Amino acid sequence: MKVMNVAVVGAGIYGINHINAYTWNPNTNLAAVCDLNKEITDRIAKEYQVKTYNDVNEMLDHEEIDAVSIATPDAFHMDPAIAAIRHGKPVLVEKPLATTSEDAKKILDEAKKYHVRVAVDYHKRWDPAAINLKNQLEAPGTGKPIRGYMSMEDIIDVPTEWFNWADKSSPVHFLGTHCYDQIRWYMGCEVEEVYAVGTKELLKSKGVDTYDTIQAFLKFENGCYWTVENSWILPKGFAKNNDGRTQILCENTLLRADSQNRGVEIYDNQKCHTPNSYFILDNCGRPRGFGIEPMNDFIYCLMNDEPFIADGNDGLQAELIAEAVHKSLETKQAVKVERA
Ligand SMILES: NC(=O)c1ccc[n+]([C@@H]2O[C@H](COP(=O)([O-])OP(=O)(O)OC[C@H]3O[C@@H](n4cnc5c(N)ncnc54)[C@H](O)[C@@H]3O)[C@@H](O)[C@H]2O)c1
Repeated sequence: MKVMNVAVVGAGIYGINHINAYTWNPNTNLAAVCDLNKEITDRIAKEYQVKTYNDVNEMLDHEEIDAVSIATPDAFHMDPAIAAIRHGKPVLVEKPLATTSEDAKKILDEAKKYHVRVAVDYHKRWDPAAINLKNQLEAPGTGKPIRGYMSMEDIIDVPTEWFNWADKSSPVHFLGTHCYDQIRWYMGCEVEEVYAVGTKELLKSKGVDTYDTIQAFLKFENGCYWTVENSWILPKGFAKNNDGRTQILCENTLLRADSQNRGVEIYDNQKCHTPNSYFILDNCGRPRGFGIEPMNDFIYCLMNDEPFIADGNDGLQAELIAEAVHKSLETKQAVKVERA
């Protein structure tokens, strides 16, 4: 079988996971890497012995590429995605697909025009605990879901130290869209209406103009109500970079999942660390885990002409919810999710 030549655009904190995935996938050849930052591309070229570029169109014009993974900052997915699509390449775009529904729709319109497929890396759909809950929700006897709660939060270092673009995103785009996508997947239907409250104080005082925390209430078409909490201000001393909890009350069943402590505890002289052994793990130099599976599945689905587990429409739907949540935060009113 032919090996697929894959390019990665954006080689920062998360792009490295895409690079590692395609380096190790037996069905792929990491053909090229593009990043605006020359220091990064110089390092990647040396470390991975791969051709690198600082301009996405130049890369697409010069290299034989079959598919492109995009891991640029949240608000900057559209230009490289459209460049790849116009070169006829299928794309795997990091979540969120975009930070406006307008950008998300432009990506999908171009994909339709150029007969190209779009996948979105909502990696929670590959988390074994999330798959377990999804299967349980579909099992006979569980009963109708009545009410749900989901949280996903990061330590304050993420918006203040990890990136320089947090003010162009928000906990809603960066974390909330993961939750909205996952809950849509659980419910098998769409959100009709949202109401949200939030605060903008702590991060603003540190020069990052975005929300600290947001609580959103989502009303789904099946009558189930969800509360979703996202924040970017967990204390530095927290045992993990992020926290996440789910609780779903169904007619006959109560489902719970906790992604904070997944069984490994490491104590040092400062604190206890609870790393997630299931997310991304180096196993004798090979990347493993549910953070890597979306890249492998992208290739599998392309090679076998199968539908993506999370596709461009899923990306758009999560963004429409995110946009309604932001509108509700601003207007302090309930907002209908517009899909026209
Ligand atoms: N960091 C995480 O834990 C994490 C987890 C899951 C998903 N993501 C998603 O991955 C994406 C990237 O996040 P990150 O943490 O790697 O950010 P980052 O800032 O570490 O890396 C982004 C990289 O993209 C490059 N870049 C920007 N515009 C570009 C362009 N037009 N062409 C080529 N390169 C460009 C930047 O130079 C930078 O190196 C985001 O959408 C984020 O939501 C991040």
